[in-house]
Amino acid sequence: MKKISIIFGTRPEAIKLIPVILELKKNKNFEINICVTAQHREMLDQVLEIFNIKPDTDLDLMQPNQTLSTLTSRIINAVDNYFSEYKPDIVLVQGDTTTVFAVSLVAFYHKVKVGHVEAGLRTGKKYSPFPEEINRVLTSRIADIHFAPTEISKNNLLKEGINSEKIFITGNTVIDALFLAKEKVLELKPKVNGLQKNLEEISPYILITGHRRENFGEGFINICSAISELALKYENYNFIYPVHLNPNVQDPVNKLLANKKNIFLIKPQTYLPFISLMMNSKIILTDSGGVQEEAPSLGKPVLVMRENTERPEAVTAGTVKLVGTDKQKIFNEVSKLLDNNLEYKKMANAINPYGDGLASKRISEILSEI
Ligand code: UD1
Ligand code: UDP
Repeated sequence: MKKISIIFGTRPEAIKLIPVILELKKNKNFEINICVTAQHREMLDQVLEIFNIKPDTDLDLMQPNQTLSTLTSRIINAVDNYFSEYKPDIVLVQGDTTTVFAVSLVAFYHKVKVGHVEAGLRTGKKYSPFPEEINRVLTSRIADIHFAPTEISKNNLLKEGINSEKIFITGNTVIDALFLAKEKVLELKPKVNGLQKNLEEISPYILITGHRRENFGEGFINICSAISELALKYENYNFIYPVHLNPNVQDPVNKLLANKKNIFLIKPQTYLPFISLMMNSKIILTDSGGVQEEAPSLGKPVLVMRENTERPEAVTAGTVKLVGTDKQKIFNEVSKLLDNNLEYKKMANAINPYGDGLASKRISEILSEI
């Protein structure tokens, strides 16, 4: 019996690891133990609930407005106790959060093997995204098996001297999750929490998400000003914004965008309504990593409010464009897509550079062979 711990803490990690959990559970030679740090509380629970996943251990570590250092130290202490009790043969982590880095470090101290899902994404810029770029680099130094989503991410790891025999190109498990969700959305037609009207009545609309630390302060003020001006110029469009629970996001967004006729500030949505919101949107304006990977598969143009991205594949394919956080640039790029149908059509192509829906199956097969 191989003892595999799967440890995660935030919304995107849960979304991307649940297909892996479902796949690993099919193998009778694996003993699976799910541990959540609960770096996120409500936004993590939303995902666990829809997929009916019950963690074996819940460390319940989130504190309001937590700092990187205190969160890291709380995770290290709590996960250290977890490892002492459970003693896994291998631990799986996903992505680039504080949970990922802290868990990998503790696994190293306990000489437990680390499998890193979504390995090898890089911007090459220390502070962008912050702190995720360095979380990724440090996790790669520690990891024993690297599940790279694409050829580009594999090459990034090779350039850092990682042994090619330890790197497997699997595709990104976010596409596995998206395929599962798309089917359910079409069948169940989930309701969006906080909207009085259904999506047909509220269309056409621009969907917005944002939460990156490097955009806190001036970046968010610029983003909100651009949205506010766009909403005035395009009265026939609605702007729907499920606002991330981080107080550094809630405060400026509520201050600058509340009580406007065609702007709808709503709570973070559970996964199915959010996919439904993406599927019915005209354009997506975001700084999210996961959304950059899902939206191209749905054929939606994505404007990314960042200066660079560790996910260049869809930019090269033309479905994703980097617009930064300059107010005028965001305003101009959204206007260009809404005013010029040719420009819109150029970007609205369904492409799947991030996976084919079978990444989790590949990960499970690789784990059974090592
Ligand atoms: C975290 C990750 C980021 C990831 C993002 C996904 C780090 C450093 N950051 O950012 O990489 O892209 O999650 O969303 O790992 N909060 C709640 N309830 C929740 C979630 C958050 O109230 O369910 C509030 C709390 O006040 C919390 C704060 O948001 O202290 C920040 O949470 P944290 O996980 O530290 O950072 P995020 O900005 O969510
Ligand atoms: N998402 C969601 N509800 C929302 C907003 C996003 O379920 O209200 C999903 C989205 O589909 C994607 C993931 O959350 O799978 C992205 O999470 P986030 O943007 O918080 O983090 P990142 O991917 O940037 O790390």
